[in-house]
Amino acid sequence: MRLLSSRRRHPAAKALLLVAALFVIGAVYAAVAPTQQSAAEPNTSQQVTKGKELFSVNCSSCHGLNGEGTSQGPSLVGVGAAAVNFQVSTGRMPLAQPGAQAPVKPREFDDEEVAALAAYVATLGPGPAIPNASQYSTDGLTDEEIARGGELFRTNCSACHNFTGRGGALPGGKHAPSLFGVSNLHIYEAMLTGPQQMPVFSDQVLPSQQKRQIIAYLEAIHQEPNHGGLDLGGLGPVSEGIVGWAIGIGCLIGFAIWITARGARAR
Ligand code: HEC
Ligand code: HEC
Repeated sequence: MRLLSSRRRHPAAKALLLVAALFVIGAVYAAVAPTQQSAAEPNTSQQVTKGKELFSVNCSSCHGLNGEGTSQGPSLVGVGAAAVNFQVSTGRMPLAQPGAQAPVKPREFDDEEVAALAAYVATLGPGPAIPNASQYSTDGLTDEEIARGGELFRTNCSACHNFTGRGGALPGGKHAPSLFGVSNLHIYEAMLTGPQQMPVFSDQVLPSQQKRQIIAYLEAIHQEPNHGGLDLGGLGPVSEGIVGWAIGIGCLIGFAIWITARGARAR
């Protein structure tokens, strides 16, 4: 008897569950989708208008009235919002005067203005968008993945930025800056947009997950306590190896001479 009734309840329960699920999906959709659409549009167009105004006052003298570029600055068509966010929020842009390399300086625009400039430049041509927090956050990466980030850093970045990210000189009075204290967002954007002589590491070359691993590696080595002693400028295995070799071999030679001298005296 009991078995029979429970069997009868099953199909009805299933149907009810289905209806309930559909209802929940519908409710969530109704709550989320339309508000997102209606909120986003006027906001963006206002932002673009504001960005264009800021651009014509602060940037167009070098980048052209429509970002097409002049003899003073490159075209910004297709550089994307990420390049603008990187250049303006690290204070590189607006450039004060032409030089070998745009220096990092205190930023001139607040977050809202940077976002407006980025939104405007993004309308000039398709380019990389500003990455979202889930792309550059290093939460939940395992030690193994961080070690993988170290490998990726040594293969792709250390030639210019040094093994420990301390930076280094480049030809023509330029330099690859130290990566200490650079925010995760800016590290991600630098890879995505390749400022100056730095190559672009697109998502085809270095997928988002690998970029996160590199960021996590940099975070890890920059948190590492200094264990004291002489770090030889952190120049990496080559210089450290040479010093170790010279001192080590030097000691061995000295020791060998001492032994021979003693041996000769004993005879
Ligand atoms: C005095 C001239 C000058 C002004 C003003 C200036 N720029 Fe630049 N900009 C340059 C030069 C030169 C470069 C390339 C040099 C470099 O990469 O270091 C550049 C590079 C850039 C890049 C990188 C392009 C790329 O290919 O990744 C962006 C983005 C940019 N500028 C945005 C701006 C914005 C936004 C403003 C206004 C807030 C601005 N610039 C103001 C001269 C200028
Ligand atoms: C060919 C040399 C070169 C390589 C390889 C290179 N970079 Fe760079 N990088 C540069 C130069 C030059 C700059 C400075 C650009 C400027 O000032 O406009 C830079 C700037 C940066 C910045 C911005 C630092 C700041 O102070 O705002 C970051 C972050 C960065 N690089 C990370 C990386 C990472 C991560 C890699 C490897 C995936 C890498 N770079 C590979 C040359 C290089």
